[in-house]
Amino acid sequence: MTQTAQVLAPSAQEAICEALNQCLADAAVATMLAQNFHWNVTGMAFGPLHELFQQMYEDHFAAQDEIAERIKALGGHAEGQLALMLKRSKVVEDAGSSGSEAMIKAMAQAQETLARTMADTASLAEQHGDNLTEDLLIARGQVHEKFAWMMRAYLG
Ligand SMILES: [Fe+2]
Repeated sequence: MTQTAQVLAPSAQEAICEALNQCLADAAVATMLAQNFHWNVTGMAFGPLHELFQQMYEDHFAAQDEIAERIKALGGHAEGQLALMLKRSKVVEDAGSSGSEAMIKAMAQAQETLARTMADTASLAEQHGDNLTEDLLIARGQVHEKFAWMMRAYLG
């Protein structure tokens, strides 16, 4: 008889999938934020910022798939509708920043929010003994903290 690698109580599964949908929503809005800035950034730092925002949206896009498929592996529903993700997201969609400094500040804040969401969800998974979800989200949190540092470094 085959068994899944981990057996979670239904309440734990539900709580973890709910938190993972928060991670998914935050990652999705951050993906669009980074792509928006990739397209519209101007100024003397255009080259490196254009490149860095691309690294971010490519990373975040791939992360959305990893997070959504972790939800599916746990037997949950991956909330993939844009309107729902936008409503749920703690990452704020840009209101039309112009100029690189406003974009850098907005993205630093977005990356810090993402790092917090991932760390909080990693802790929740740890409490329920779901170390595979915990591991994924610790790795994601580290990526977002690194991007947050890179944004802050531009501000001197
Ligand atoms: Fe491009």
